[in-house]
Amino acid sequence: MTTEDWGQIPIGAPDDLHQLYKIEQPFIDLYKRIADCPACELARFRSKTVPGSGSKTSKLMLIGEGPGQKEDELGLPFVGRSGQFLEKMLLSIGLSRQDVYITNVVKCRPPDNRDPHSQEINACDNFLQEQIAIVNPTMIATLGRISMSIWFPNEKISQIHGEVKRIDGRLIMPMYHPAAALRNGSLRKTVQEDFLKIEKILMETK
Ligand code: URA
Repeated sequence: MTTEDWGQIPIGAPDDLHQLYKIEQPFIDLYKRIADCPACELARFRSKTVPGSGSKTSKLMLIGEGPGQKEDELGLPFVGRSGQFLEKMLLSIGLSRQDVYITNVVKCRPPDNRDPHSQEINACDNFLQEQIAIVNPTMIATLGRISMSIWFPNEKISQIHGEVKRIDGRLIMPMYHPAAALRNGSLRKTVQEDFLKIEKILMETK
């Protein structure tokens, strides 16, 4: 089974986009189950599911909130403006998006880009846990307060971004969402500094 079989790749997509859709087992089965998932009302609004993309053996996993319009169109995470900023940050520490694994807390776009509801987050959590188990990353960077709240439900992002905690054998670092840095220019330097911390940690855990 390939992504083409369930219509994830848009007809006529350029080669570099095909590259981003390249997925291997065991993700193929998982992505198919996500594509068929009817578990919450987000299923009614989606064009495409957005399961995740990148390396199944990466030491670093990035978890955003939920797909936006562009992601919903293409079935890939972080391919809009936030994604461009994220790629720039990754490049600044010598990583491309294919080197890391990128996903979201919910795999379908919430209408009007609203925050996902807790029932939707819970309905999608088994998929996220499966992804974490498959990739088995040394480090997880949560992007924004929604994904942060999975590990740090009672914390404020302004207080704990860039700090690393070891939880269940993994290093978890909360970070600001790229969209927050795009909205508020003064956060860009903070995000850049937090990415440098990721680079340092990954070097130390080599
Ligand atoms: N924002 C997110 O949280 N995830 C995406 O995939 C795109 C924008």
